Amino acid sequence: MRRFLLTVPNFANKMVGNKFVGKTAVLKLQKAGGNWVEGDRFFNRASELQALEERVRDGAHTLLTAQRRMGKTSLVRELLRRLGDGGGFEPIFVDLEAAMDPADAIAEIGARSRSAQGAWHRIQSAFANALRTAGDQVETLSLGDLKAKLRGGMSAGDWRQKGDDLLAALAENDRPVVLALDELPILVNRLLKGQDGDITPEGRQAADAFLSWLRHNGQTHRNRICMILSGSVGLEPILRQAGLSAHANIFSSFDLKPWNEQTAKECLEALAANYGLDLPQEVRVAMCHRLRCQIPHHVQQFFDHLHEHLRRAGRNKASLEDVDIVYQRELLGPRGQMVLDHYENRLRLVLGGNGYPTALDMLTEASVNHGKLGNDAIALFHALAEGQAQSVPVKDVLYTLEHDGYLAPEEGGGYRFVSGLLEDWWRARHGQHFVPIADRDVAAGPKR
Ligand SMILES: Nc1ncnc2c1ncn2[C@@H]1O[C@H](COP(=O)(O)OP(=O)(O)O)[C@@H](O)[C@H]1O
Ligand SMILES: [Mg+2]
Repeated sequence: MRRFLLTVPNFANKMVGNKFVGKTAVLKLQKAGGNWVEGDRFFNRASELQALEERVRDGAHTLLTAQRRMGKTSLVRELLRRLGDGGGFEPIFVDLEAAMDPADAIAEIGARSRSAQGAWHRIQSAFANALRTAGDQVETLSLGDLKAKLRGGMSAGDWRQKGDDLLAALAENDRPVVLALDELPILVNRLLKGQDGDITPEGRQAADAFLSWLRHNGQTHRNRICMILSGSVGLEPILRQAGLSAHANIFSSFDLKPWNEQTAKECLEALAANYGLDLPQEVRVAMCHRLRCQIPHHVQQFFDHLHEHLRRAGRNKASLEDVDIVYQRELLGPRGQMVLDHYENRLRLVLGGNGYPTALDMLTEASVNHGKLGNDAIALFHALAEGQAQSVPVKDVLYTLEHDGYLAPEEGGGYRFVSGLLEDWWRARHGQHFVPIADRDVAAGPKR
């Protein structure tokens, strides 16, 4: 078997989609349009694609971690597209965001497996009861209808057996399968927690059963099915809260980093070239400095707002003043704040009604304090939590904020906001009436 499908040259950052562009050519990139990107809208990430491909060829299961909007879904989609296109693999991408329970997840994987020609016949036999009423139409059913049929044929008790049959069939497919399970942590979180967002004993049991099943199949079919897990919230902090971390052992983590400044500037240059804009070097540098952390989505958003601003002004050359105006009015303005809603929802989902207020408090504390959360402040947060019967301890909240990329440890102790944009957003949204922890009567509880 060929070892490297993606023959990546040294000038990796001159790569768009699967085309390499010579150093003299002007690189052009289309705007993303909000959703994940692949092909011609996919920029850079050549070394990440190569590393992930090596893992797949070595039969290693991967847990892809990174903050929201770092480009996890895009990276996995693009990897699968390339591995499927003459790469000798059967790519199956499954989004588990809407799955309510293990049977839903199995039905979703089953429906998406219809494209695996070498396995589909066996899968149909395993689900013969569920598919009988569909007759010959199975091939033409929409994916949603197919999923509903598969789901309808499973009782609460037999998802495990059906899931085993499904993965055994996939393992027999002529081409080895790369099975990407996006948003798996959302499903695990949903299984674990009751209405109020706290982990229940039944929830823990359900998550344990599902993760054991996944682990067992990952081990049994190693080298025939390679799994890549990813999600908009981290799996490890959730498993840690539930004491189920051991289930992640078969997955080796791959941490997707932000772009470096050079790549972000090249991305801005390629976007500008595509839309006939002139973004001088100093403008691109200023944009990157504002963001501080080059999360691809933020780079794209900044460009998009600047593009709209210049269009309204009837110009195509941007100045430093334009950068300031767009940053303040658009990125930090009402439309930017809407994006922040999503971040908050995800934090609420992971930390529940109990841990979430602490996270909100800590992030706001850092945002009004030049991005820093010092050890003194952390000690006060511990004191504040004492006697409040916190189900998510302060140290777990901090772990989640670090793991999910909000805060990073500082050399001299304490933490610091990673992204300049997130820090400014947070301050704009929550900073105004905030009372810093040092000014509170800690014994009396939070004042907000
Ligand atoms: N490789 C990339 N090239 C261009 N834009 C990207 C890339 N990766 C991410 N983006 C931008 O980030 C946005 C979010 O990407 P997505 O893959 O959905 O992130 P995640 O799954 O980590 O939340 C995309 O809509 C796009 O604007
Ligand atoms: Mg995603």
